[in-house]
Amino acid sequence: MDELQSLREEIMRLRNEKNALIMAHYYTREEIQEIADFIGDSLALARKAAETDADIIVMCGVHFMGETAKILCPDKKVLVPDLDAGCSLADSCNPDEFARFVEQHPGYTVVSYVNTSAAVKAITDIVVTSGNARKIIDSLPEDEKIIFGPDHNLGEYINSVTGRKMLLWPGACHVHDRFSVEKILELKKEHPGAKILVHPECRRPLQIIADKVGSTAALLDFARKDDALEYIVVTESGILFEMQKNCKDKKFIPAPAMDSECQCNQCEYMKLNTLHKVAAALRDESPEIIVDKEIAAKALRPIERMLQLS
Ligand code: 13P
Ligand code: SF4
Repeated sequence: MDELQSLREEIMRLRNEKNALIMAHYYTREEIQEIADFIGDSLALARKAAETDADIIVMCGVHFMGETAKILCPDKKVLVPDLDAGCSLADSCNPDEFARFVEQHPGYTVVSYVNTSAAVKAITDIVVTSGNARKIIDSLPEDEKIIFGPDHNLGEYINSVTGRKMLLWPGACHVHDRFSVEKILELKKEHPGAKILVHPECRRPLQIIADKVGSTAALLDFARKDDALEYIVVTESGILFEMQKNCKDKKFIPAPAMDSECQCNQCEYMKLNTLHKVAAALRDESPEIIVDKEIAAKALRPIERMLQLS
């Protein structure tokens, strides 16, 4: 038996022995998506965490995803294979600075993207993901004054489709913010029949040229149901694995980013999840996500509000 196969078998054995659930985001490595019990976008991962009866959750994604699961399930052990799997977008919103911004705008409802730390969620009224942001904003009274953070590009997108004038925090994801509209238009010339799929964390010009703007799950769903044969995929390239698996006869072209020197269409944090680390996490029941109890209690309310409203 080769090394990878024995690793996979060890993971399955430990998962069964310990009643663990292995969850993975679409941006993780193929070998992680292959062994996961559940793969989803941020919203689906939060929902699944809220309803599972597993004793241990292994969250193969990034830190805020583990934190959200822990806040929803404080009695479960939530493991992340590598605690260094952070998120540049979550890091672009310092809790103290965000708290000052909120204080400067009394009377505003604070809506935060799920890509935030527990401390930011704790000063938030409603959490959203890219999968439900539009629906949740639409459910608020039209004259409600709203602060939206931290993703500026997603905020601009929601403002454009809802007609709101939400106050936006200037945060961004280092992967999505770097895609170049010129490069996508060049690709489109080479593949004139291809449809352009764009994650709303990308800049406004990309949202405007897109055939579909949506969360990772929404882009997958669109590709599954649509009748084109080629797609230019403007989001983290890990999603191509699930797209290709679902649509065997279609061609998915990963979007190149601005900088040809680096693999800018990959999230290095997501790629920190490896089979070796998943096996070690299950074996050692570590590294574990711990959230300060007071912060967790405050952060739970806006997450629950999101789950009720979406
Ligand atoms: P989704 O909610 O669309 O899965 O996006 C999560 C994310 O981190 C995007 O960069
Ligand atoms: Fe965060 Fe961007 Fe990575 Fe998504 S792709 S987890 S927003 S750094």
